[in-house]
Amino acid sequence: MPFLKKYVPKYWKMFCLAVLCLTFEALCDLAMPTILSKIIDVGVAHSRMDYVLRMGGLMLLITAFGAVAACGRNILASRVSQKFGAELRSDMFRKIQSLSFDNIDRFERASLVTRLTNDVTQVQNFMNGLMRIFVKSPLICIGSLIMATRLNSQLAIVLAVVVPIVALLIALNMKIGFPLFIKVQKALDQVNSLSREYLSGVRVVKAFNRFDYEVDKFEQSNQEYRARSVRAMRRMSIFNPAIMLTVNFGIITVLWLGGVRVDGGQMQVGTIIAFINYMTQILFSLMMISNVFNMFVRAKASAGRIDEVFAQENTMNWNADTRPNPEMKGRIDFENVYFTYEGTSGEPVLKNISFTCHAGETVGIIGSTGSGKSSLVGLIPRFYDTLAGTVKVNGVDVKEIDPQLLREKIALVPQQTVLFTGTVLDNIKIGKEDATMAEIEQAAKMSEAHGFVSSFADGYNTILGQGGVNFSGGQKQRVSIARALVRKPEILILDDCTSAVDVATESRIKEALKTYAADLTCLLIAQRITSVMDADKIIVLDNGEIVGVGKHETLMRTCRVYQEICQSQVGKEMQSDVSA
Ligand code: GTP
Ligand code: MG
Repeated sequence: MPFLKKYVPKYWKMFCLAVLCLTFEALCDLAMPTILSKIIDVGVAHSRMDYVLRMGGLMLLITAFGAVAACGRNILASRVSQKFGAELRSDMFRKIQSLSFDNIDRFERASLVTRLTNDVTQVQNFMNGLMRIFVKSPLICIGSLIMATRLNSQLAIVLAVVVPIVALLIALNMKIGFPLFIKVQKALDQVNSLSREYLSGVRVVKAFNRFDYEVDKFEQSNQEYRARSVRAMRRMSIFNPAIMLTVNFGIITVLWLGGVRVDGGQMQVGTIIAFINYMTQILFSLMMISNVFNMFVRAKASAGRIDEVFAQENTMNWNADTRPNPEMKGRIDFENVYFTYEGTSGEPVLKNISFTCHAGETVGIIGSTGSGKSSLVGLIPRFYDTLAGTVKVNGVDVKEIDPQLLREKIALVPQQTVLFTGTVLDNIKIGKEDATMAEIEQAAKMSEAHGFVSSFADGYNTILGQGGVNFSGGQKQRVSIARALVRKPEILILDDCTSAVDVATESRIKEALKTYAADLTCLLIAQRITSVMDADKIIVLDNGEIVGVGKHETLMRTCRVYQEICQSQVGKEMQSDVSA
Protein backbone atom coordinates (compact mmCIF):
# COMPACT_ATOMS: atom_id res chain seq x y z
CA MET A 1 0.00 0.00 0.00
CA PRO A 2 1.77 3.15 -1.20
CA PHE A 3 0.34 5.42 1.48
CA LEU A 4 1.94 3.33 4.24
CA LYS A 5 5.43 4.21 3.02
CA LYS A 6 5.25 7.57 4.67
CA TYR A 7 4.91 6.03 8.12
CA VAL A 8 7.65 3.42 7.87
CA PRO A 9 10.62 5.72 8.62
CA LYS A 10 8.78 7.18 11.56
CA TYR A 11 7.72 4.03 13.34
CA TRP A 12 10.06 1.26 12.26
CA LYS A 13 12.30 1.63 15.31
CA MET A 14 9.51 1.35 17.83
CA PHE A 15 7.99 -1.42 15.74
CA CYS A 16 11.24 -3.40 15.74
CA LEU A 17 11.63 -2.86 19.48
CA ALA A 18 8.15 -4.26 20.05
CA VAL A 19 8.97 -7.25 17.85
CA LEU A 20 12.20 -7.72 19.80
CA CYS A 21 10.26 -7.85 23.07
CA LEU A 22 7.91 -10.30 21.39
CA THR A 23 10.81 -12.51 20.28
CA PHE A 24 12.19 -12.54 23.79
CA GLU A 25 8.78 -13.45 25.14
CA ALA A 26 8.49 -16.29 22.61
CA LEU A 27 11.93 -17.61 23.57
CA CYS A 28 10.86 -17.69 27.22
CA ASP A 29 7.73 -19.64 26.24
CA LEU A 30 9.81 -22.04 24.17
CA ALA A 31 12.20 -22.85 27.00
CA MET A 32 9.46 -24.07 29.34
CA PRO A 33 8.68 -27.59 28.03
CA THR A 34 12.39 -28.47 27.84
CA ILE A 35 12.95 -27.45 31.45
CA LEU A 36 9.81 -29.35 32.39
CA SER A 37 11.15 -32.50 30.74
CA LYS A 38 14.40 -32.11 32.70
CA ILE A 39 12.51 -31.78 35.98
CA ILE A 40 10.59 -34.98 35.24
CA ASP A 41 13.37 -37.03 33.73
CA VAL A 42 16.17 -35.99 36.11
CA GLY A 43 14.54 -34.56 39.26
CA VAL A 44 11.42 -36.71 39.64
CA ALA A 45 12.84 -39.93 38.18
CA HIS A 46 15.84 -39.87 40.54
CA SER A 47 13.98 -38.22 43.47
CA ARG A 48 16.38 -35.25 43.50
CA MET A 49 14.45 -32.53 45.33
CA ASP A 50 17.25 -29.95 45.08
CA TYR A 51 17.28 -30.31 41.26
CA VAL A 52 13.50 -29.90 41.11
CA LEU A 53 13.66 -26.75 43.25
CA ARG A 54 16.56 -25.30 41.25
CA MET A 55 14.86 -25.89 37.93
CA GLY A 56 11.54 -24.69 39.35
CA GLY A 57 13.26 -21.47 40.36
CA LEU A 58 14.71 -21.11 36.88
CA MET A 59 11.23 -21.54 35.40
CA LEU A 60 9.87 -18.79 37.65
CA LEU A 61 12.71 -16.49 36.66
CA ILE A 62 12.18 -17.07 32.94
CA THR A 63 8.44 -16.53 33.37
CA ALA A 64 9.18 -13.22 35.11
CA PHE A 65 11.42 -12.13 32.23
CA GLY A 66 8.76 -13.18 29.77
CA ALA A 67 6.17 -11.14 31.67
CA VAL A 68 8.37 -8.03 31.60
CA ALA A 69 8.87 -8.45 27.84
CA ALA A 70 5.13 -8.91 27.39
CA CYS A 71 4.45 -5.68 29.30
CA GLY A 72 6.98 -3.86 27.14
CA ARG A 73 5.54 -5.01 23.85
CA ASN A 74 2.01 -4.22 25.01
CA ILE A 75 2.97 -0.66 25.85
CA LEU A 76 4.94 -0.23 22.64
CA ALA A 77 2.26 -1.80 20.49
CA SER A 78 -0.46 0.45 21.90
CA ARG A 79 1.64 3.57 21.57
CA VAL A 80 2.76 2.90 18.03
CA SER A 81 -0.63 1.83 16.74
CA GLN A 82 -2.52 4.69 18.40
CA LYS A 83 -0.06 7.30 17.18
CA PHE A 84 -0.04 5.81 13.72
CA GLY A 85 -3.85 5.71 13.62
CA ALA A 86 -4.21 9.31 14.76
CA GLU A 87 -1.66 10.52 12.25
CA LEU A 88 -3.20 8.56 9.40
CA ARG A 89 -6.62 9.98 10.24
CA SER A 90 -5.42 13.56 10.30
CA ASP A 91 -3.37 13.12 7.13
CA MET A 92 -6.40 11.72 5.41
CA PHE A 93 -8.59 14.54 6.66
CA ARG A 94 -6.08 17.04 5.30
CA LYS A 95 -5.94 15.17 2.00
CA ILE A 96 -9.72 15.30 1.65
CA GLN A 97 -9.65 19.02 2.39
CA SER A 98 -7.07 19.62 -0.29
CA LEU A 99 -9.12 17.89 -2.97
CA SER A 100 -11.22 19.68 -5.55
CA PHE A 101 -14.96 19.11 -5.81
CA ASP A 102 -14.33 17.02 -8.89
CA ASN A 103 -12.21 14.68 -6.79
CA ILE A 104 -14.61 14.56 -3.87
CA ASP A 105 -17.63 13.97 -6.09
CA ARG A 106 -16.09 10.64 -7.07
CA PHE A 107 -16.79 9.31 -3.57
CA GLU A 108 -20.02 8.98 -1.72
CA ARG A 109 -19.94 11.24 1.31
CA ALA A 110 -20.89 8.37 3.65
CA SER A 111 -18.10 6.27 2.25
CA LEU A 112 -15.57 9.01 2.95
CA VAL A 113 -16.71 9.01 6.56
CA THR A 114 -16.36 5.22 6.79
CA ARG A 115 -12.89 5.43 5.28
CA LEU A 116 -11.86 8.09 7.73
CA THR A 117 -13.12 6.21 10.79
CA ASN A 118 -13.75 2.50 10.37
CA ASP A 119 -11.12 1.77 7.74
CA VAL A 120 -8.38 3.59 9.60
CA THR A 121 -9.34 1.68 12.75
CA GLN A 122 -9.07 -1.64 10.91
CA VAL A 123 -5.58 -0.86 9.69
CA GLN A 124 -4.63 0.44 13.12
CA ASN A 125 -5.91 -2.74 14.82
CA PHE A 126 -3.98 -4.88 12.40
CA MET A 127 -0.82 -2.90 13.16
CA ASN A 128 -1.44 -3.41 16.85
CA GLY A 129 -2.05 -7.12 16.36
CA LEU A 130 1.10 -7.40 14.29
CA MET A 131 3.13 -6.26 17.27
CA ARG A 132 1.19 -8.38 19.77
CA ILE A 133 0.49 -11.85 18.44
CA PHE A 134 0.88 -12.04 14.70
CA VAL A 135 4.65 -12.09 14.76
CA LYS A 136 4.70 -14.29 17.83
CA SER A 137 2.76 -17.15 16.24
CA PRO A 138 5.27 -17.89 13.46
CA LEU A 139 8.10 -17.52 15.96
CA ILE A 140 6.54 -20.01 18.36
CA CYS A 141 5.73 -22.33 15.48
CA ILE A 142 9.24 -22.41 14.05
CA GLY A 143 10.86 -22.35 17.50
CA SER A 144 8.77 -25.28 18.70
CA LEU A 145 9.67 -27.25 15.59
CA ILE A 146 13.37 -26.70 16.26
CA MET A 147 13.11 -27.46 19.99
CA ALA A 148 11.06 -30.60 19.39
CA THR A 149 13.52 -31.88 16.80
CA ARG A 150 16.40 -31.26 19.16
CA LEU A 151 14.56 -33.06 21.93
CA ASN A 152 14.07 -36.19 19.90
CA SER A 153 14.80 -36.44 16.21
CA GLN A 154 12.96 -39.75 15.76
CA LEU A 155 9.65 -38.43 17.07
CA ALA A 156 10.19 -35.39 14.83
CA ILE A 157 9.29 -37.61 11.86
CA VAL A 158 5.70 -37.34 13.07
CA LEU A 159 6.02 -33.57 12.81
CA ALA A 160 7.40 -33.92 9.29
CA VAL A 161 4.08 -35.51 8.33
CA VAL A 162 1.67 -33.44 10.43
CA VAL A 163 3.03 -29.95 9.75
CA PRO A 164 2.82 -30.05 5.91
CA ILE A 165 -0.76 -31.33 6.09
CA VAL A 166 -1.72 -28.53 8.48
CA ALA A 167 0.10 -25.95 6.36
CA LEU A 168 -1.82 -27.17 3.31
CA LEU A 169 -5.10 -26.89 5.19
CA ILE A 170 -4.27 -23.32 6.19
CA ALA A 171 -3.28 -22.38 2.65
CA LEU A 172 -6.58 -23.79 1.34
CA ASN A 173 -8.41 -21.94 4.07
CA MET A 174 -6.86 -18.66 2.95
CA LYS A 175 -7.41 -19.27 -0.74
CA ILE A 176 -11.09 -20.05 -0.29
CA GLY A 177 -11.73 -17.59 2.49
CA PHE A 178 -10.08 -14.50 1.09
CA PRO A 179 -12.64 -13.68 -1.63
CA LEU A 180 -15.48 -14.66 0.69
CA PHE A 181 -14.41 -12.25 3.39
CA ILE A 182 -13.95 -9.44 0.90
CA LYS A 183 -17.59 -9.97 -0.07
CA VAL A 184 -18.59 -9.90 3.58
CA GLN A 185 -16.76 -6.61 4.01
CA LYS A 186 -18.54 -5.11 1.02
CA ALA A 187 -21.92 -6.14 2.42
CA LEU A 188 -21.03 -4.56 5.75
CA ASP A 189 -20.12 -1.32 3.97
CA GLN A 190 -23.53 -1.37 2.35
CA VAL A 191 -25.23 -1.73 5.74
CA ASN A 192 -23.12 1.15 7.06
CA SER A 193 -23.85 3.51 4.25
CA LEU A 194 -27.57 2.72 4.28
CA SER A 195 -27.87 3.51 7.95
CA ARG A 196 -25.92 6.74 7.53
CA GLU A 197 -28.13 7.83 4.68
CA TYR A 198 -31.23 6.97 6.65
CA LEU A 199 -30.09 8.97 9.65
CA SER A 200 -29.28 12.05 7.61
CA GLY A 201 -32.66 11.93 5.91
CA VAL A 202 -34.70 10.86 8.90
CA ARG A 203 -37.02 13.89 8.71
CA VAL A 204 -38.02 13.14 5.16
CA VAL A 205 -38.57 9.49 5.98
CA LYS A 206 -40.90 10.41 8.83
CA ALA A 207 -42.67 13.10 6.83
CA PHE A 208 -43.46 10.73 3.99
CA ASN A 209 -44.13 7.72 6.18
CA ARG A 210 -41.48 5.74 4.36
CA PHE A 211 -40.71 3.49 7.32
CA ASP A 212 -41.73 0.26 5.61
CA TYR A 213 -39.72 1.10 2.56
CA GLU A 214 -36.65 2.05 4.61
CA VAL A 215 -37.01 -1.00 6.84
CA ASP A 216 -37.28 -3.21 3.76
CA LYS A 217 -34.23 -1.62 2.22
CA PHE A 218 -32.27 -2.04 5.41
CA GLU A 219 -33.55 -5.56 5.90
CA GLN A 220 -32.41 -6.52 2.42
CA SER A 221 -28.87 -5.37 2.91
CA ASN A 222 -28.82 -6.75 6.45
CA GLN A 223 -29.91 -10.15 5.13
CA GLU A 224 -27.31 -9.96 2.40
CA TYR A 225 -24.67 -9.32 5.03
CA ARG A 226 -25.94 -12.24 7.10
CA ALA A 227 -26.07 -14.57 4.09
CA ARG A 228 -22.57 -13.71 3.00
CA SER A 229 -21.18 -14.08 6.53
CA VAL A 230 -22.88 -17.44 6.95
CA ARG A 231 -21.57 -18.61 3.59
CA ALA A 232 -18.06 -17.59 4.49
CA MET A 233 -18.24 -19.11 7.96
CA ARG A 234 -19.71 -22.36 6.65
CA ARG A 235 -16.87 -22.80 4.18
CA MET A 236 -14.38 -21.98 6.89
CA SER A 237 -15.98 -24.17 9.52
CA ILE A 238 -14.36 -27.40 8.32
CA PHE A 239 -10.82 -26.10 8.54
CA ASN A 240 -10.28 -25.64 12.26
CA PRO A 241 -11.64 -29.10 13.18
CA ALA A 242 -9.58 -30.62 10.35
CA ILE A 243 -6.43 -29.00 11.70
CA MET A 244 -7.29 -30.17 15.24
CA LEU A 245 -7.90 -33.69 14.02
CA THR A 246 -4.60 -33.86 12.18
CA VAL A 247 -2.63 -32.57 15.14
CA ASN A 248 -4.42 -34.89 17.57
CA PHE A 249 -3.63 -37.86 15.35
CA GLY A 250 -0.03 -36.68 15.51
CA ILE A 251 -0.17 -36.57 19.32
CA ILE A 252 -1.62 -40.11 19.45
CA THR A 253 1.19 -41.31 17.19
CA VAL A 254 3.79 -39.64 19.42
CA LEU A 255 2.25 -41.23 22.52
CA TRP A 256 2.18 -44.65 20.88
CA LEU A 257 5.71 -44.48 19.46
CA GLY A 258 6.99 -42.95 22.68
CA GLY A 259 5.21 -45.56 24.82
CA VAL A 260 6.87 -48.37 22.89
CA ARG A 261 10.29 -46.75 23.34
CA VAL A 262 9.81 -45.94 27.03
CA ASP A 263 8.96 -49.61 27.51
CA GLY A 264 12.13 -50.45 25.68
CA GLY A 265 14.05 -48.07 27.94
CA GLN A 266 15.18 -45.88 25.03
CA MET A 267 13.11 -42.81 25.96
CA GLN A 268 11.96 -41.04 29.08
CA VAL A 269 8.49 -39.85 30.09
CA GLY A 270 9.52 -36.18 30.44
CA THR A 271 10.69 -36.05 26.85
CA ILE A 272 7.34 -37.27 25.60
CA ILE A 273 5.47 -34.74 27.75
CA ALA A 274 7.70 -31.93 26.48
CA PHE A 275 7.33 -33.13 22.92
CA ILE A 276 3.54 -33.11 23.14
CA ASN A 277 3.75 -29.72 24.77
CA TYR A 278 5.66 -28.37 21.78
CA MET A 279 3.21 -29.99 19.46
CA THR A 280 0.25 -28.24 21.07
CA GLN A 281 2.17 -24.97 20.91
CA ILE A 282 2.63 -25.55 17.18
CA LEU A 283 -1.06 -26.32 16.84
CA PHE A 284 -2.15 -23.17 18.64
CA SER A 285 0.22 -20.94 16.76
CA LEU A 286 -0.96 -22.37 13.45
CA MET A 287 -4.58 -21.82 14.45
CA MET A 288 -3.65 -18.29 15.43
CA ILE A 289 -2.06 -17.71 12.06
CA SER A 290 -5.21 -18.86 10.31
CA ASN A 291 -7.29 -16.52 12.48
CA VAL A 292 -4.93 -13.65 11.79
CA PHE A 293 -5.73 -13.87 8.14
CA ASN A 294 -9.34 -12.94 8.80
CA MET A 295 -8.11 -9.70 10.29
CA PHE A 296 -5.65 -9.33 7.47
CA VAL A 297 -8.41 -9.53 4.87
CA ARG A 298 -10.29 -6.74 6.58
CA ALA A 299 -7.21 -4.61 7.03
CA LYS A 300 -6.22 -5.14 3.42
CA ALA A 301 -9.64 -4.17 2.12
CA SER A 302 -9.60 -1.10 4.37
CA ALA A 303 -6.08 -0.15 3.35
CA GLY A 304 -7.16 -0.36 -0.28
CA ARG A 305 -10.02 2.02 0.36
CA ILE A 306 -7.77 4.44 2.23
CA ASP A 307 -5.32 4.26 -0.62
CA GLU A 308 -8.01 5.26 -3.10
CA VAL A 309 -8.37 8.56 -1.27
CA PHE A 310 -4.65 9.19 -1.07
CA ALA A 311 -4.24 8.26 -4.73
CA GLN A 312 -6.52 11.11 -5.81
CA GLU A 313 -4.46 13.67 -7.65
CA ASN A 314 -5.91 17.12 -7.21
CA THR A 315 -7.43 17.94 -10.57
CA MET A 316 -6.63 21.61 -10.12
CA ASN A 317 -3.27 23.20 -10.86
CA TRP A 318 -2.27 26.81 -10.65
CA ASN A 319 0.71 29.04 -10.98
CA ALA A 320 2.12 29.90 -7.55
CA ASP A 321 3.50 33.24 -8.76
CA THR A 322 0.32 34.70 -10.19
CA ARG A 323 -0.99 37.58 -8.10
CA PRO A 324 -4.40 39.22 -8.35
CA ASN A 325 -4.51 42.40 -10.35
CA PRO A 326 -5.31 45.22 -7.87
CA GLU A 327 -6.34 47.57 -10.64
CA MET A 328 -9.22 45.46 -11.83
CA LYS A 329 -10.76 44.91 -8.42
CA GLY A 330 -14.11 43.16 -8.61
CA ARG A 331 -14.24 42.50 -12.34
CA ILE A 332 -15.54 39.17 -13.63
CA ASP A 333 -15.26 37.93 -17.23
CA PHE A 334 -16.76 34.79 -18.70
CA GLU A 335 -15.42 34.03 -22.19
CA ASN A 336 -17.21 31.30 -24.17
CA VAL A 337 -17.50 29.07 -21.14
CA TYR A 338 -18.76 25.51 -21.46
CA PHE A 339 -19.18 23.42 -18.35
CA THR A 340 -20.39 20.02 -17.30
CA TYR A 341 -20.17 17.94 -14.12
CA GLU A 342 -17.79 15.03 -14.29
CA GLY A 343 -19.35 11.67 -14.89
CA THR A 344 -22.48 13.08 -16.48
CA SER A 345 -23.18 12.53 -20.13
CA GLY A 346 -25.36 14.45 -22.51
CA GLU A 347 -25.55 18.17 -23.04
CA PRO A 348 -23.22 20.42 -21.04
CA VAL A 349 -24.79 22.20 -18.08
CA LEU A 350 -23.52 25.56 -19.36
CA LYS A 351 -23.07 26.43 -23.02
CA ASN A 352 -21.14 29.29 -24.56
CA ILE A 353 -21.49 31.69 -21.64
CA SER A 354 -19.88 35.10 -22.19
CA PHE A 355 -20.46 38.23 -20.13
CA THR A 356 -18.57 40.82 -18.11
CA CYS A 357 -19.31 42.30 -14.70
CA HIS A 358 -17.57 45.56 -13.90
CA ALA A 359 -16.53 46.56 -10.42
CA GLY A 360 -19.38 48.00 -8.42
CA GLU A 361 -22.08 46.53 -10.62
CA THR A 362 -24.98 44.55 -9.32
CA VAL A 363 -25.82 41.77 -11.73
CA GLY A 364 -28.97 39.72 -11.44
CA ILE A 365 -29.18 36.17 -12.74
CA ILE A 366 -32.55 34.66 -13.39
CA GLY A 367 -33.82 31.52 -15.06
CA SER A 368 -35.96 28.48 -14.44
CA THR A 369 -34.82 25.74 -12.04
CA GLY A 370 -32.04 23.66 -13.42
CA SER A 371 -31.06 26.31 -15.94
CA GLY A 372 -27.53 26.38 -14.53
CA LYS A 373 -27.49 29.49 -12.29
CA SER A 374 -25.77 27.89 -9.31
CA SER A 375 -23.37 26.04 -11.59
CA LEU A 376 -22.44 29.32 -13.24
CA VAL A 377 -21.53 31.14 -10.04
CA GLY A 378 -19.69 28.07 -8.75
CA LEU A 379 -17.12 28.60 -11.48
CA ILE A 380 -16.12 32.01 -10.11
CA PRO A 381 -14.43 30.69 -6.91
CA ARG A 382 -13.23 27.78 -9.08
CA PHE A 383 -15.19 25.06 -7.32
CA TYR A 384 -15.10 23.33 -10.68
CA ASP A 385 -13.05 23.79 -13.83
CA THR A 386 -14.64 24.72 -17.12
CA LEU A 387 -14.86 22.32 -20.03
CA ALA A 388 -13.82 25.07 -22.43
CA GLY A 389 -13.46 28.82 -22.27
CA THR A 390 -12.07 30.98 -19.48
CA VAL A 391 -13.37 32.55 -16.33
CA LYS A 392 -11.44 35.63 -15.23
CA VAL A 393 -11.62 37.34 -11.89
CA ASN A 394 -9.91 40.72 -11.62
CA GLY A 395 -8.58 40.14 -15.12
CA VAL A 396 -6.74 36.96 -14.14
CA ASP A 397 -7.72 33.49 -15.34
CA VAL A 398 -8.96 31.57 -12.28
CA LYS A 399 -6.92 28.58 -13.43
CA GLU A 400 -3.75 30.60 -12.99
CA ILE A 401 -4.14 31.82 -9.45
CA ASP A 402 -3.90 30.04 -6.09
CA PRO A 403 -7.54 29.20 -5.20
CA GLN A 404 -6.95 30.44 -1.68
CA LEU A 405 -6.00 33.92 -2.91
CA LEU A 406 -8.91 33.85 -5.31
CA ARG A 407 -11.46 32.84 -2.69
CA GLU A 408 -10.26 35.51 -0.29
CA LYS A 409 -11.78 38.08 -2.66
CA ILE A 410 -15.14 36.37 -2.83
CA ALA A 411 -17.96 35.86 -0.38
CA LEU A 412 -20.61 33.37 -1.35
CA VAL A 413 -23.97 32.73 0.22
CA PRO A 414 -24.82 29.26 -1.04
CA GLN A 415 -28.30 28.24 -2.08
CA GLN A 416 -28.37 25.55 0.55
CA THR A 417 -27.57 27.12 3.87
CA VAL A 418 -24.69 25.51 5.67
CA LEU A 419 -24.11 26.32 9.31
CA PHE A 420 -21.73 24.61 11.67
CA THR A 421 -22.19 23.41 15.22
CA GLY A 422 -21.10 26.22 17.52
CA THR A 423 -22.34 29.67 18.45
CA VAL A 424 -23.89 32.20 16.07
CA LEU A 425 -20.78 34.29 16.63
CA ASP A 426 -18.49 31.44 15.52
CA ASN A 427 -20.56 30.95 12.41
CA ILE A 428 -20.44 34.60 11.39
CA LYS A 429 -16.75 34.77 12.14
CA ILE A 430 -16.09 32.13 9.50
CA GLY A 431 -16.50 35.03 7.06
CA LYS A 432 -13.73 36.99 8.76
CA GLU A 433 -11.76 35.46 11.57
CA ASP A 434 -10.66 38.68 13.24
CA ALA A 435 -13.98 40.48 12.90
CA THR A 436 -14.79 42.83 15.78
CA MET A 437 -18.11 42.70 17.58
CA ALA A 438 -19.11 45.98 15.92
CA GLU A 439 -18.44 44.56 12.46
CA ILE A 440 -20.40 41.44 13.27
CA GLU A 441 -23.37 43.40 14.54
CA GLN A 442 -23.28 45.63 11.50
CA ALA A 443 -23.31 42.64 9.17
CA ALA A 444 -26.10 41.01 11.18
CA LYS A 445 -28.15 44.20 11.07
CA MET A 446 -27.86 44.38 7.29
CA SER A 447 -28.94 40.78 6.91
CA GLU A 448 -31.80 41.31 9.37
CA ALA A 449 -30.32 38.72 11.71
CA HIS A 450 -29.47 41.10 14.54
CA GLY A 451 -33.07 41.44 15.66
CA PHE A 452 -33.82 37.79 16.28
CA VAL A 453 -30.32 36.89 17.44
CA SER A 454 -30.34 39.52 20.16
CA SER A 455 -33.77 38.37 21.28
CA PHE A 456 -32.26 35.03 22.32
CA ALA A 457 -31.21 34.81 25.96
CA ASP A 458 -27.59 34.15 24.97
CA GLY A 459 -27.58 36.57 22.02
CA TYR A 460 -24.67 35.93 19.72
CA ASN A 461 -23.49 33.12 21.97
CA THR A 462 -26.57 31.03 21.26
CA ILE A 463 -25.49 27.53 20.35
CA LEU A 464 -26.51 26.15 16.98
CA GLY A 465 -27.14 22.43 16.91
CA GLN A 466 -25.68 20.29 14.17
CA GLY A 467 -26.42 21.98 10.84
CA GLY A 468 -28.42 24.62 12.72
CA VAL A 469 -31.39 22.36 13.51
CA ASN A 470 -32.66 24.71 16.22
CA PHE A 471 -33.03 27.64 13.78
CA SER A 472 -35.78 28.21 11.24
CA GLY A 473 -34.96 28.13 7.53
CA GLY A 474 -35.20 31.91 7.20
CA GLN A 475 -33.14 32.48 10.35
CA LYS A 476 -30.42 30.22 9.03
CA GLN A 477 -30.37 32.07 5.71
CA ARG A 478 -29.97 35.39 7.46
CA VAL A 479 -27.05 34.17 9.57
CA SER A 480 -25.51 32.78 6.41
CA ILE A 481 -25.86 36.19 4.70
CA ALA A 482 -24.27 37.92 7.70
CA ARG A 483 -21.34 35.53 7.43
CA ALA A 484 -20.72 36.67 3.85
CA LEU A 485 -21.27 40.36 4.50
CA VAL A 486 -18.82 40.54 7.41
CA ARG A 487 -16.06 39.62 5.01
CA LYS A 488 -16.33 42.88 2.98
CA PRO A 489 -15.34 41.04 -0.18
CA GLU A 490 -14.64 42.40 -3.63
CA ILE A 491 -17.21 40.06 -5.12
CA LEU A 492 -20.40 39.08 -3.34
CA ILE A 493 -22.44 36.19 -4.66
CA LEU A 494 -25.92 35.62 -3.30
CA ASP A 495 -27.44 32.39 -4.59
CA ASP A 496 -31.16 32.62 -4.06
CA CYS A 497 -30.43 33.28 -0.43
CA THR A 498 -33.66 34.92 0.58
CA SER A 499 -35.95 32.15 -0.63
CA ALA A 500 -37.04 31.33 2.94
CA VAL A 501 -37.35 34.95 4.10
CA ASP A 502 -40.66 36.80 3.97
CA VAL A 503 -41.08 39.50 1.33
CA ALA A 504 -40.96 42.44 3.75
CA THR A 505 -37.73 41.30 5.37
CA GLU A 506 -36.27 40.54 1.97
CA SER A 507 -36.87 44.05 0.75
CA ARG A 508 -35.23 45.47 3.91
CA ILE A 509 -32.18 43.26 3.28
CA LYS A 510 -32.11 44.47 -0.32
CA GLU A 511 -32.20 48.10 0.77
CA ALA A 512 -29.30 47.56 3.16
CA LEU A 513 -27.37 45.72 0.48
CA LYS A 514 -27.73 48.61 -1.93
CA THR A 515 -25.51 50.87 0.16
CA TYR A 516 -23.24 48.01 1.24
CA ALA A 517 -22.69 46.76 -2.30
CA ALA A 518 -22.22 50.20 -3.84
CA ASP A 519 -18.55 49.67 -4.61
CA LEU A 520 -18.36 45.90 -4.81
CA THR A 521 -19.48 43.53 -7.49
CA CYS A 522 -22.63 41.73 -6.51
CA LEU A 523 -24.11 38.73 -8.28
CA LEU A 524 -27.67 38.11 -7.29
CA ILE A 525 -29.46 34.91 -8.21
CA ALA A 526 -33.16 35.04 -7.65
CA GLN A 527 -36.39 33.27 -8.45
CA ARG A 528 -38.54 36.37 -8.04
CA ILE A 529 -38.22 38.93 -10.77
CA THR A 530 -38.81 41.72 -8.25
CA SER A 531 -35.53 40.79 -6.54
CA VAL A 532 -33.42 41.52 -9.61
CA MET A 533 -35.55 44.12 -11.33
CA ASP A 534 -33.41 47.11 -10.42
CA ALA A 535 -30.01 45.46 -10.98
CA ASP A 536 -27.53 47.19 -13.30
CA LYS A 537 -27.68 44.20 -15.56
CA ILE A 538 -29.78 41.04 -15.63
CA ILE A 539 -28.59 37.81 -17.20
CA VAL A 540 -31.35 35.45 -18.30
CA LEU A 541 -30.37 31.80 -18.41
CA ASP A 542 -32.35 29.12 -20.14
CA ASN A 543 -31.23 25.53 -20.32
CA GLY A 544 -27.57 26.48 -19.76
CA GLU A 545 -27.49 29.28 -22.30
CA ILE A 546 -27.68 33.05 -21.98
CA VAL A 547 -30.83 34.14 -23.77
CA GLY A 548 -30.78 37.76 -22.72
CA VAL A 549 -28.62 40.38 -21.03
CA GLY A 550 -29.64 43.89 -20.13
CA LYS A 551 -31.74 46.06 -17.89
CA HIS A 552 -35.28 45.14 -16.91
CA GLU A 553 -36.89 47.50 -19.42
CA THR A 554 -34.74 46.31 -22.32
CA LEU A 555 -35.34 42.65 -21.49
CA MET A 556 -39.08 43.26 -21.21
CA ARG A 557 -38.98 44.43 -24.80
CA THR A 558 -36.51 41.99 -26.30
CA CYS A 559 -36.28 38.74 -24.33
CA ARG A 560 -39.10 36.25 -24.66
CA VAL A 561 -38.00 34.04 -21.77
CA TYR A 562 -37.78 37.04 -19.47
CA GLN A 563 -41.23 38.21 -20.53
CA GLU A 564 -42.63 34.77 -19.78
CA ILE A 565 -41.06 34.65 -16.32
CA CYS A 566 -42.32 38.12 -15.62
CA GLN A 567 -45.83 37.40 -16.82
CA SER A 568 -46.10 34.23 -14.77
CA GLN A 569 -44.99 36.02 -11.60
CA VAL A 570 -46.78 39.33 -12.03
CA GLY A 571 -49.88 37.42 -13.02
CA LYS A 572 -49.68 35.43 -9.82
CA GLU A 573 -49.17 38.49 -7.66
CA MET A 574 -52.13 40.22 -9.27
CA GLN A 575 -54.25 37.16 -8.71
CA SER A 576 -53.24 37.03 -5.07
CA ASP A 577 -53.97 40.76 -4.80
CA VAL A 578 -57.43 40.20 -6.16
CA SER A 579 -58.14 37.27 -3.87
CA ALA A 580 -56.90 39.31 -0.89
P1 GTP B 1 -32.19 26.16 -9.09
O1 GTP B 1 -31.23 26.39 -8.00
O2 GTP B 1 -33.13 25.04 -8.82
O3 GTP B 1 -32.95 27.37 -9.47
O4 GTP B 1 -31.37 25.68 -10.39
P2 GTP B 1 -30.01 26.23 -10.93
O5 GTP B 1 -30.31 27.12 -12.08
O6 GTP B 1 -29.17 26.76 -9.85
O7 GTP B 1 -29.39 24.91 -11.55
P3 GTP B 1 -28.00 24.24 -11.21
O8 GTP B 1 -26.91 25.07 -11.74
O9 GTP B 1 -27.94 23.87 -9.78
O10 GTP B 1 -28.11 22.89 -12.04
C1 GTP B 1 -27.97 22.87 -13.46
C2 GTP B 1 -27.85 21.41 -13.90
O11 GTP B 1 -26.70 20.85 -13.36
C3 GTP B 1 -29.01 20.55 -13.46
O12 GTP B 1 -29.46 19.87 -14.61
C4 GTP B 1 -28.44 19.57 -12.47
O13 GTP B 1 -28.93 18.29 -12.77
C5 GTP B 1 -26.95 19.62 -12.70
N1 GTP B 1 -26.21 19.63 -11.44
C6 GTP B 1 -26.26 20.57 -10.46
N2 GTP B 1 -25.41 20.29 -9.46
C7 GTP B 1 -24.81 19.13 -9.78
C8 GTP B 1 -23.79 18.32 -9.16
O14 GTP B 1 -23.29 18.61 -8.07
N3 GTP B 1 -23.42 17.18 -9.82
C9 GTP B 1 -23.95 16.84 -11.00
N4 GTP B 1 -23.52 15.72 -11.58
N5 GTP B 1 -24.88 17.57 -11.64
C10 GTP B 1 -25.31 18.71 -11.06
MG1 MG C 1 -29.36 26.89 -7.88
